[in-house]
Amino acid sequence: MRALILVGGYGTRLRPLTLSCPKPLVEFANKPMIIHQIEALKQAGCTEVVLAINYQPEVMMGFIEEWQEKLGVKIVCSQEKEPMGTAGPLALARETLDDGKGTPFFVLNSDVICDYPLKDMLDFHKARGAEATILVTKVDDPTKYGVVVMDEYGQVQRFVEKPKEFVGDKINAGIYVCSPSILKRIELRPTSIEREVFPHVAADNLLYAYTLNGYWMDVGQPKDYLKGLHLYLDSMAIRQSSALAHGPGISGNVLVDPTAKIGEGCLIGPDVSISAGCVIGNGVRLSHCVVMRGVHIKDHTKVDLSIIGWDSRVGAWSRMENHCVLGEDVQCKDELYLNGAVVLPHKEIKESVPSPAIIL
Ligand code: GDD
Ligand code: MG
Repeated sequence: MRALILVGGYGTRLRPLTLSCPKPLVEFANKPMIIHQIEALKQAGCTEVVLAINYQPEVMMGFIEEWQEKLGVKIVCSQEKEPMGTAGPLALARETLDDGKGTPFFVLNSDVICDYPLKDMLDFHKARGAEATILVTKVDDPTKYGVVVMDEYGQVQRFVEKPKEFVGDKINAGIYVCSPSILKRIELRPTSIEREVFPHVAADNLLYAYTLNGYWMDVGQPKDYLKGLHLYLDSMAIRQSSALAHGPGISGNVLVDPTAKIGEGCLIGPDVSISAGCVIGNGVRLSHCVVMRGVHIKDHTKVDLSIIGWDSRVGAWSRMENHCVLGEDVQCKDELYLNGAVVLPHKEIKESVPSPAIIL
């Protein structure tokens, strides 16, 4: 089986992290977001994954070389000359996606995190004779998503992208199974699967929805990314508790890369991920935060609800809280208070940021 992951989009809502690398390569729980998806696709029987990209191809190529081997899945790039939206990339990769035997393929948004019930979705898709099956989940605020209205068999009656008025609270989770016949509906031009394809498939009674049982989050913006980490680690505690950190100084769900070094007398957790090569000083307090590859945090510093980008340095006796996001290689002096500071890559921070601000 084959799959296409929609990797394009500039990831503006995840800046400043996406100033250093494309959104799907931003680490989530210590590995690039997209790796969670490729691993799940492999488990569901996919042997070839198409990455639909529209910018930074050189970064993507390096990534593919490294992971293709590690994962044992063929990964190919389908490069757009201009952003093709969420449906155009399917037309561009038509040759790869349509095997001529009617075999369905998966399509994934690259920024969604869940337990990926791909096999169950595929069985459901076949049993319903669907042209497309959408994974749906329930959210409190449906306005920023695509809303799906369906009957008790899962047949979709309406699909409304980013509705202004309340339509329902079941939303498109950004994961689809499609039969190759859907490709006939998609022209080779920038076009949206949500606005220009799904409503027509629904009108032909060929669009179905499979309801997700479990957590889900679009981690394409910092607040949701941190919420997503909480949900992911909660699920990991049930499925794979041995992969989480245990012992004195660890409180709640914490993921620590084996190459990270943690000092004496720290208190870490809940909902913290510490990636490869990090060095955490003595007496450090970390909660609800992401510490990306190569970060150093000096002694007696407290970090809460924040994301620290690759290779950044946080000084001693400091405090960071309230959705700070440090880009790559940010250098912070000692004894600073950072409240909701969003800092661009390669900056040096010498003074406190007492209220939320973007540091250019
Ligand atoms: N290749 C390519 N080219 N990919 C693109 C392009 C493009 O021009 N534009 C967007 N994408 C990719 C993004 O990288 C992302 O993986 C996916 O398409 C969806 O784009 P987002 O920008 O993240 O959309 P959204 O979050 O506002 O809404 C989408 O996801 C929601 C679930 O998280 C829609 O599919 C909604 O219906 C859905 O509810
Ligand atoms: Mg998104």
